[in-house]
Amino acid sequence: MRIVVLVSGTGSNLQAIIDAVAAGELDVQIAAVGADRKGTYGVERSAAAGLETFVVDFKDYTVRSEWNAALTAKVLSYAPDLVVSSGFMRIVDEHFIATFENRYINTHPALLPAFPGAHGVRDALAYGVKVTGCTVHYADTGVDTGPIIAQEAVTVEPDDTEEALHERIKVVERRLLVQTLKDLAAARKAPVA
Ligand code: GRF
Repeated sequence: MRIVVLVSGTGSNLQAIIDAVAAGELDVQIAAVGADRKGTYGVERSAAAGLETFVVDFKDYTVRSEWNAALTAKVLSYAPDLVVSSGFMRIVDEHFIATFENRYINTHPALLPAFPGAHGVRDALAYGVKVTGCTVHYADTGVDTGPIIAQEAVTVEPDDTEEALHERIKVVERRLLVQTLKDLAAARKAPVA
């Protein structure tokens, strides 16, 4: 299974994928890692790992649809079986979604459909939930919407800060993402009955 991973930030989830592949635990080929802006640590660490990287910088485009078209074409050029939005903080349009239908997944640090958006951890904490978690789902053109593939709960501690809670969620999120990729890769290999 060839994957393209999209990042906007540090890429610790991506690192978990890289490590699992290197350890022989995850049978996928990382065809490329891409970002929506220059200077991300995610792209830096991918290059350091010898992976193919690219940037389709949102700031280089005045029209959003042109950025979407450029991103779609770039990702398509790697012929991925699956595209992974891993801390990729951009909503893509219907052209991208149609091009990668059933092949675009996202990871989110909350139990969707609760607390979608860029501040899922902060919003869960502010609401006062006692349990939150993370979700891996097929992505569509909405904000953290689309069919759920896997979820895992994380308990909120009484004096949690957003940072501390997010770090605990990310430990679970990394494991869940790698396990989901394993499951999807295995499903592709399974003989059709
Ligand atoms: C993850 O929790 C992801 O779900 C959220 O931002 C975080 C990205 O972390 N959207 P990283 O870039 O993988 O370290």
